[in-house]
Amino acid sequence: MNETRRRVLDALADGPVTGPELAERLDVSRAAVWKHVEALRDAGFDVESESGGYALGGVPDYGGPAVEYGLDAPFDVEYHDAVPSTNDRARELATEGASDVVVLADRQTGGRGRRGREWSSPAGGVWMSLVLRPDLPPARAPTLTLAAAVAVIDAAREAGVPAEIKWPNDCLVPGDGERGGAKLAGVLTEMEGEASRVSWVVLGVGVNVDVDPGDLDGDATSVRAEGGTVDRRAFVQRVLERFHELRERPDAALDAWRERAATLGQRVRVETGSGAVVGDAVSVTEYGALVVDTADGEQIVHAGDCEHLRLAE
Ligand code: BTN
Repeated sequence: MNETRRRVLDALADGPVTGPELAERLDVSRAAVWKHVEALRDAGFDVESESGGYALGGVPDYGGPAVEYGLDAPFDVEYHDAVPSTNDRARELATEGASDVVVLADRQTGGRGRRGREWSSPAGGVWMSLVLRPDLPPARAPTLTLAAAVAVIDAAREAGVPAEIKWPNDCLVPGDGERGGAKLAGVLTEMEGEASRVSWVVLGVGVNVDVDPGDLDGDATSVRAEGGTVDRRAFVQRVLERFHELRERPDAALDAWRERAATLGQRVRVETGSGAVVGDAVSVTEYGALVVDTADGEQIVHAGDCEHLRLAE
């Protein structure tokens, strides 16, 4: 949303305010004020026109302007009703030089998960990808993924869903499922850069919010199915704000991750590209890798699919 439109919206929220007053305050013509008001109405904002002037009567439930309005983090939002994959669109924007842009969609027709899997993305979920240009060496980029997982967990808990993290970035609601719980959300990070510096990172976040688990693959759940508060606009804002608090504080992100992680202290089996690692998950390194105490000593696992076997003795 451009700066003038944002200021019009703020003035309407404090309204009523007349067109001429607004024009003077923002140093634009009355015609320009009218155009902004019409554009806001087109975007779903309820702009009431009363004798005292214009006033904001309501904010749309969801969409780009709705998420940007009242957002306390410096992201622009590009919204789509449907898109093949928000990560793919975010990658395009990243290669064009974008930064701090969020691609948000109501549904995806070709959503992608980790390790080449499909990610079901029916209408009603939160499907979004953040385009970032962090000043980080590539080895530290995984801490952004951990920060995103923390942000999702905090938003879920505020919505009343008791989620926790399974390494590296699965957000689960604990239960008896195969993985030790049902999957509420996941994070897919993609990046480009050189050995010493990251050029861009696309952080894809998928959260099953207002969806029926029957429409999802595998052992999945949703905010709605868990009886949580279903408000996608507030959920996205909370994720973005919490992520923004943590993104330049990798140590704080790691501490927060450890506090929310169900994996530490568990007996685990991690399927890696070069075989399975079985043992007790004892810690996470500053690079987000899992330290597993195995029969052959400690092993550090950088990537893989982690299964919780039982609590370590
Ligand atoms: C996982 O496998 O756990 C990660 C799932 C990530 C899904 C999100 S939804 C938004 C973004 N766009 C995609 O195509 N994938 C990610």
